[in-house]
Amino acid sequence: MARKKIVAGNWKMNTLPAEGVELAKSVVAGRGEVCSCVNFIVCPPFTHLSQVIEAVKGSDIAVGAQNCATEAKGAYTGEIAASMIAALGCKYVILGHSERRQYYGETSETLNKKMAQAYANGLTPIYCVGESLEERKAGNHFAVCKAQIEEVVYNLTEEQFANLVIAYEPVWAIGTGETATAEQAQEIHAYIREVLAAKFGAAAAECPILYGGSCKPSNAAEIFAKEDVDGGLIGGAALKAEDFLAIGKGF
Ligand code: 13P
Repeated sequence: MARKKIVAGNWKMNTLPAEGVELAKSVVAGRGEVCSCVNFIVCPPFTHLSQVIEAVKGSDIAVGAQNCATEAKGAYTGEIAASMIAALGCKYVILGHSERRQYYGETSETLNKKMAQAYANGLTPIYCVGESLEERKAGNHFAVCKAQIEEVVYNLTEEQFANLVIAYEPVWAIGTGETATAEQAQEIHAYIREVLAAKFGAAAAECPILYGGSCKPSNAAEIFAKEDVDGGLIGGAALKAEDFLAIGKGF
């Protein structure tokens, strides 16, 4: 079975509601130019999830959130529960993004709880892994990704694992304009798949592994051509519908 091809846009803390709706509508309008084999996902800020879901209604574009709470509900001021996200009609949630690990102290412990909440509410996690520049320079990128997978993904059931997307995002390539080479991406994607196979066996061959980090129309095709790269998690270039769609044409 061929793995799902996915192009997901992580809008991060960008766009006001009206701009987000406009962006989503432009993606819908141009979607037909891209192979229907590509699954597009857009992940706007919480504040306009509803409006973006409305804007993509009737299209095959899915919507995801960028985070969810560790707990189901209750006295957790400022948090957003996975059930709330799911109730809006979101299908995905990005978890473990390096910006959340780095700036908001997310650890494997908190991520295990968030993953559990996501699954309990029928959301598909897009679980992010990736090394910092120092870790890459020290040759520790394999060990870092392995630990990030073992400490969280290894706790999933087979059924949960069958409904997981992984994103490999080297921190040194995020928002820097510096992209991993297609060879670097393939090398670590293949390694990540091996780590997954050590726990989940043949099911690892079905798990989509996306590349993220300064992915743009000019480099997407070369990266996506690699055997173990199943698409991209796009930051900056997802904020322009034309670029986001052009990345989809990389398949
Ligand atoms: P950029 O595409 O802006 O480098 O961001 C990648 C990313 O972090 C997506 O989650």
